[in-house]
Amino acid sequence: MFAGIGGFRIGLEALGGKCVYSVECDKFSRRTYEEWFGSPPEGIDIRDIDPESIPAHAIMAGGFPCQGFSLAGVSKKNSLGEPHGFDDKKHGYAFFKLAEVVAAARPMAVLLENVKNLLTHDKGNTWRVIRTTLENLGYEVFVDVLDAQYFGVPQCRQRVFIVAFDKSRVPGPIDFCFPKFGAGSRPRLIDILNAQPDPAMTISERAMRGNEKHAARHKENRNGFGYKLVDVHDVGPTMPAHYSKGGKEILIPQEGIMPRKLSPREAARYLGFPSHLSIVVSNTQAYRQFGNAVVPATVEAVGAEVINVLERHSTAAQLDGTMPRMTG
Ligand SMILES: C[S@@+](CC[C@H](N)C(=O)[O-])C[C@H]1O[C@@H](n2cnc3c(N)ncnc32)[C@H](O)[C@@H]1O
Repeated sequence: MFAGIGGFRIGLEALGGKCVYSVECDKFSRRTYEEWFGSPPEGIDIRDIDPESIPAHAIMAGGFPCQGFSLAGVSKKNSLGEPHGFDDKKHGYAFFKLAEVVAAARPMAVLLENVKNLLTHDKGNTWRVIRTTLENLGYEVFVDVLDAQYFGVPQCRQRVFIVAFDKSRVPGPIDFCFPKFGAGSRPRLIDILNAQPDPAMTISERAMRGNEKHAARHKENRNGFGYKLVDVHDVGPTMPAHYSKGGKEILIPQEGIMPRKLSPREAARYLGFPSHLSIVVSNTQAYRQFGNAVVPATVEAVGAEVINVLERHSTAAQLDGTMPRMTG
């Protein structure tokens, strides 16, 4: 659900999963998804889905839109005097639509991802509603914040992962534990940068002046948004969906010249998307797609624990025909 470019699919396919259904309304994300997986997700608004029409599956996966809950999104909506969270007209429905699909399709497990602020938004009420909704559907719910830098990418990217098991098909007590670390090494930014940077990624003096002005304005307002010149021997900051023209969120210093942005290919590696996957959209779309995506290796690590639980707790008959299958 909310498939984007298929970060969940890559992570779960690495565990032997087979995708039986996916949905995504953005035409550019669907173009990338089609290039990578051979066919596009269903291209409709999720609100128009008939939950009964979704094929049977063991795991439902999705990263529902976060603009209504993220720190930046809430601050923007507040400044415009617009409602946020579940009251956000554009995105507030998303979780409830997922819940409708869960109620109809009854997947054995649900795996969701969102921004960390989801847990504290509206003094914790937003998270309470999500937990209670899933519990009322008969699911046992687990939640944790995982940081992608411990799952093989050089990026501090803290995200909430929600895992829920259908108690009627996965008898308890359910001993699910989130992984805190993935397999393999912990790369630094320098490990994913091109040896020969594309000169087109160097930002102009004008853009840099714009970044400096922006930073000064925000310093005055004390809200901490500035520009970030990164240390390439460390991990970098979270890549946002709106990686701006001036690249202010992640700028790489260069000797004697203006700093540069990440290239789209570097952005792919920054999120852990394999290099054999072609980038078939404009730079702006590519940055948006990677900035929105879930890190596949984190999904793989969490998914492995979900599958462990399903295998330990379910009878062979329950698993028969639906394992390992998924949506997302
Ligand atoms: C946070 S992104 C998920 C990214 C995905 N997990 C990935 O790895 O690429 C949310 C996605 O939901 C899609 N979306 C938002 N509202 C939608 C709707 N009403 N129907 C279908 N897709 C929607 C957006 O276009 C976006 O690609």
